[in-house]
Amino acid sequence: MCGIVGAVANRNITQILVEGLKRLEYRGYDSAGVGLINRDSDKLELCKSIGKVADLDEKLCESGLKGNIGIAHTRWATHGKPTEENAHPHRSNDIVVVHNGIIENYQLLRDELKKHGYEFITQTDSETIAHLIHFEFQKTDSLLQALKAAAKQLKGAYALACFTENNPDLLCIARKDSPLVIGIGIEENYVASDPMALRQVTDRFVHLEDGEFAEITTADFSIFDSESNPVEREIELAKDNVESIDKGTYRHYMIKEIFEQPKALKNTLLGRTGDGCILEESFGAEAPAIFDQVKQVQIVACGTSYHAGTVAKYWLEDWAGVPCSVEVASEFRYRNPVVQDNTLFVTISQSGQTADTLAALEEAKEKNYLATLSICNVAASPLVRQSDLALITQAGAEIGVASTKAFTTQLIALQLLVIALGRRGKMTAEKEKELVSNLMDLPVFCAAVLQLNNTILEVSNHFTEKHHSLFLGRGVQYPIALEGALKIKEISYIHAEAYPSGELKHGPLALVDSDMPVIAVAPSGDLLEKLKSNLEEVAARGGKLYVFADENAGFRNDDQVIVINVPHCPESIAPIIYTIPLQLLAYHVAVNKGTDVDQPRNLAKSVTVE
Ligand code: G6P
Repeated sequence: MCGIVGAVANRNITQILVEGLKRLEYRGYDSAGVGLINRDSDKLELCKSIGKVADLDEKLCESGLKGNIGIAHTRWATHGKPTEENAHPHRSNDIVVVHNGIIENYQLLRDELKKHGYEFITQTDSETIAHLIHFEFQKTDSLLQALKAAAKQLKGAYALACFTENNPDLLCIARKDSPLVIGIGIEENYVASDPMALRQVTDRFVHLEDGEFAEITTADFSIFDSESNPVEREIELAKDNVESIDKGTYRHYMIKEIFEQPKALKNTLLGRTGDGCILEESFGAEAPAIFDQVKQVQIVACGTSYHAGTVAKYWLEDWAGVPCSVEVASEFRYRNPVVQDNTLFVTISQSGQTADTLAALEEAKEKNYLATLSICNVAASPLVRQSDLALITQAGAEIGVASTKAFTTQLIALQLLVIALGRRGKMTAEKEKELVSNLMDLPVFCAAVLQLNNTILEVSNHFTEKHHSLFLGRGVQYPIALEGALKIKEISYIHAEAYPSGELKHGPLALVDSDMPVIAVAPSGDLLEKLKSNLEEVAARGGKLYVFADENAGFRNDDQVIVINVPHCPESIAPIIYTIPLQLLAYHVAVNKGTDVDQPRNLAKSVTVE
């Protein structure tokens, strides 16, 4: 989704901005642009392009545009089509602005500004902000004051960065419900919506909080709260390594990330267990005292992360005896849930920036939840910063829009949470040891299941011409079927639905014919025989089955059934293991179909707007 990068320096910053945008590309966007002033000429120049950042880069190179101060943006269209005109930055006379978020009252403001003579050339909500700042700038000589006055009138979410031709050494920024960070350099400073965009130039960051504003110059930066009081904030050192964001020898980020899973799982477990038990302080120093009081858990998340939460519900109730509700954040945030005493509120997110999840957390903080905990892949994200407890998954940067290694590492993190809560209740020490031992073996099982890649590549050819598909699972494998269906939808654009297989006879069986591939996940376990009966019902109606089955489950290939044998694994880690072949299937189907695997149409990696 939209991304912001800005810089103010004594050298030419064009390539800093372009590299920053490239680092944000994975979030999904449809156009990009940059606004620059070169102090030698003091002339404000804009350059925009639809499509990829590489197209913008080419345009910039051709034009030879250079600057010492500038802001750049990747846009994911909300108001108005992806066109050059609608791309950011937006300009109002000598003011130039980029905006992440959505302004809800833009139409009203637009009408007002028109009365003052402003002409609108785009359909965006963001252009309104440029004119509004310009309007306010006429009443004061200070860009920061103008930005504050404008921000006061905005309803909605925003991260804003702006500058003016009159002062080519000053960037002003503001945030509300959309992240912004200041990057500190040597005699130059930067701004971005995600620190990752600036990791090639700095490892020192200052996060802006909601309602705050800042002035940034080459020499310094100053932060102010909404009442204009100066804010002192320490500079944080980014602890993560500067990760390579190239694809290495892989064709796509997604396949690279699928194959990185053994390492990601291992890293997520590192330091979180000892002597065959989990170390619950991994969730934070306060965790043991909080966990002692937990009587139930409310999980809230979106997309793939929501599926991870759904798996955790099965584990929590089965192994720990702790009641658990799971809900998508976009629903939860507008509901008035009944909060039982001693409920732990858990958010799950790869990015830690998803607008609905953040809003749900904010809502939860107003209610009488016991405490908030986030399971997140980005330590410096707003979600982690705003939660009482956190467990950071160590998946490493995930660039492909379709989440893979983030999901499997979330499942590990959730299993650690289940054990922490379970050991206070019905989980025996033996059970904990067994679960932890299975987790330690997970990277090896994961590497083994990745060996199925070529088999799955062959099977994927059966799907290229299909328009629909049905995914089935039982028990804890039902959310895995949901996740498999989501992966196919996201990147191959094949319609996919997932059902708990016991529900087949209540509707979806009517869809089954020879054109409808039915994909089933069938690890060993109590529900295997029940699943087999459900699959018989599909075969009897002429459906073609693709069964990802435990190698010992006794499935046989025939005209109607293609069996993909999955190495036998302990039941407690089966949801993680069976996710992987479904990821591979979605990947190969998408490659066969020639879709944009890493940046599928209409989707974004981090959904920072509602
Ligand atoms: C977007 C992404 C999904 C992701 C979801 C939630 O829709 O395309 O891959 O699962 O957001 O994101 P989060 O970062 O909160 O896990």
